[in-house]
Amino acid sequence: MIASEPPDSCKVYTPRSLARAMVAAIVDGVDQRWLEPSCGTGSFLEALAGFGVNRKRIVGVDLDRKTSAADSLATVTRGVDFLDWSKTRKGRYDCVVGNPPYLPIRALHDPLRNTASNVVDVNGQPIGDRANTWYPFMVRAMEMLREGGNLAFILPAASEYADYASEGRKKLTQIFDRVDIIRSRRPLFDNVSEGVVVIIATGKGGTSKLFRRHEVEGLQAAIQQIGRIQRTNARNCPKLIKTRKPELVKFSDIASIRIGAVTGDSKFFVVNEEQRKQLCLPKKCLVPIVSRSKHIRLPVHDFRSWQHECDSGEKIWLFRPGQKHVDMKCVRSYLALSEDEGGCHKERFKIRNREPWYETPLPKHPDFFLTGMSGLGLWMCLNEHPQLNATNTLYTGTFREPLSRREKFTWALALLTSRVQKQIVRAKRVYADGLSKLEPGQVNGLILPEPPVISDAVSVYRRSANLFLSGCQQEAGRLADKFVFNQ
Ligand SMILES: C[S@@+](CC[C@H](N)C(=O)[O-])C[C@H]1O[C@@H](n2cnc3c(N)ncnc32)[C@H](O)[C@@H]1O
Repeated sequence: MIASEPPDSCKVYTPRSLARAMVAAIVDGVDQRWLEPSCGTGSFLEALAGFGVNRKRIVGVDLDRKTSAADSLATVTRGVDFLDWSKTRKGRYDCVVGNPPYLPIRALHDPLRNTASNVVDVNGQPIGDRANTWYPFMVRAMEMLREGGNLAFILPAASEYADYASEGRKKLTQIFDRVDIIRSRRPLFDNVSEGVVVIIATGKGGTSKLFRRHEVEGLQAAIQQIGRIQRTNARNCPKLIKTRKPELVKFSDIASIRIGAVTGDSKFFVVNEEQRKQLCLPKKCLVPIVSRSKHIRLPVHDFRSWQHECDSGEKIWLFRPGQKHVDMKCVRSYLALSEDEGGCHKERFKIRNREPWYETPLPKHPDFFLTGMSGLGLWMCLNEHPQLNATNTLYTGTFREPLSRREKFTWALALLTSRVQKQIVRAKRVYADGLSKLEPGQVNGLILPEPPVISDAVSVYRRSANLFLSGCQQEAGRLADKFVFNQ
């Protein structure tokens, strides 16, 4: 064996089902950048491919030069010591996932031994050679993550009590929003009697400081428990938690809003599914839309919720044929109808001034919808339908920067905090006819607390928004305050 070859004793590969569950616990869309620091035969690379993460977004490293079929699913560098490679690459990844080698540092040959023992521990001192290799891997993995990043690692059971790991254990609960440890009473790997734990740490830089330890029987129970993490409560680490005083930001600094599409003649352009069928208009000539406040009384709109509106007879199609559709017989006939026959009022200002008259200008695919006309207050209906847009009875919003799914839900939660909802009540303009409305300018001027990283922002926002939309605004505000201000 040459000095820089991994000993066979550390080549224990993660069962695919476990790798999948661990990835599922920390994945958030397909845009995250992933690192697998000792990728072996690629169980985690395969799991990531299964979640649709592009190979260019995944970096794999392994000391073992022997290639694996899964190497094609990521950018893999082999024959390299991760602890050496990682020195210059800190803070670059959204997620680190893996099962690092468990080898006493003293048993390594140089240069691996020298590199591992000189990795700087979280207290600023070199780790030394009394530790096991998994420990410098964990310290480096925490450093490799960006703010908001997530870690999922399989570690030996000794990681819970080994003296050499005490600083790293403390750091783990200090720097992540939430840490879950899953300890299996039976070994998780064939042919290995040593016990292991799975660590799922989410939201680097978050302030909730939640911690939960789960003890389970074996592999299947561990997988189930990992899948339930988002839904199980965790306790606060009381010493670490403080009420937060967040920075304040103007709504217009995080998102831009505008009114939805102005058709000029909604009777002609906005139709329901039944009308579409009667007129024989092919779906490619229409855009799915929301056109009324009640369509967005939801935390999130996706294909299924839109289909539900569609099946309920709501007007959820915007007729908007492109040049290539206007020669189709049914489209031509609809465009040619006279006003008396249900045709378009083409003389109207908005319509006669656009070219071609039937192509209603559309806002860019919105990140969320708002209504200024609801008696309830203001909430974001996040848009997870790939084509959904809105007409001008609603406002459409786009975040100014590309955000992860979790970040979008976190901002939506900030809007539901009680302080922001109080501003909304004050900002509403009441018209002579008693109608109260929030204009785009007033939405833009709202001051929002900059929220911390909230690892389960998606489910917290859903809960808070559902309370809000069912009329329990105070409770919704309290829940949002709890997560945004740690109250
Ligand atoms: C426990 S196996 C896990 C492999 C893979 N992560 C999995 O879960 O299936 C540990 C892996 O670490 C690799 N390894 C050992 N020392 C390493 C080092 N210093 N840098 C990078 N990889 C290393 C081994 O070649 C082996 O593939």
